Amino acid sequence: MVPDDDPIARDAYDELADSYAEDVRSNAYNAHLEFPATSSMIPDVDGKRILDAGCGTGVYTEYLLDRGAEVVGVDASEEMLAHARDAVGDRAELRQGDLADPLDLDDDSFDGIVSALALGYVEDWERLFAEFARILRPGGFVVFSTGHPLDQFPLDEGGEPADAENYFAVERLTKEWDVPVPYYRRPFSAVVNPLLESGFQLETVVEPRPTDGFREQLPERYEKESRYPVFLCVRASLD
Ligand SMILES: C[S@@+](CC[C@H](N)C(=O)[O-])C[C@H]1O[C@@H](n2cnc3c(N)ncnc32)[C@H](O)[C@@H]1O
Repeated sequence: MVPDDDPIARDAYDELADSYAEDVRSNAYNAHLEFPATSSMIPDVDGKRILDAGCGTGVYTEYLLDRGAEVVGVDASEEMLAHARDAVGDRAELRQGDLADPLDLDDDSFDGIVSALALGYVEDWERLFAEFARILRPGGFVVFSTGHPLDQFPLDEGGEPADAENYFAVERLTKEWDVPVPYYRRPFSAVVNPLLESGFQLETVVEPRPTDGFREQLPERYEKESRYPVFLCVRASLD
């Protein structure tokens, strides 16, 4: 049970929205590590109806619109959504919503779901992927990225977990990022099994490596991030 006075991700992103919007399209970790991998896994979306789940400031919303998709973007944070509106105007339907709740979207109403770096804020992925399966049409896809289970389970110098306690559990941790941002880390099995249990077939798993753009921007981090995983990107589809 999360205490009432603990931070929640929506409030944290309301605080972070301006700096996130300024940074996300150019910073090394988003623009030159996560985005190239996740976007490369999105199939042809021309003429398709796509949900951008946890759309934030609209980076993927814009990418999908530019490729001919009809896009609905959902995010918990009104401040992040305000930036998405600045980015895409009325080209997409953008609405406030919590991915931890049942989605206010019709059955069989989307051809695909893209979700970049947002699902880690949701504890229950069994319910989440069951909802994704419900709103997707047969043959629909989901492409998502999340923190890599190994990166989120760091060991200290003594070889003990630094803040996480039990690799095999889904644990609520907090990242200090100007403001405390709570998130859930989970083992690899808890990434994949809820998908399979909801009827998805796993198609591709990518553990992105930093690109040349990353090296140019952060040469001092390039060497490390070329050897340690940061993100995990997954594509799965329904029959
Ligand atoms: C790291 S940002 C990613 C935004 C965007 N997908 C991108 O790649 O730039 C995470 C986003 O998840 C949203 N978020 C966090 N918890 C959420 C929830 N329970 N339901 C919907 N969105 C949530 C935040 O408001 C934030 O916009």
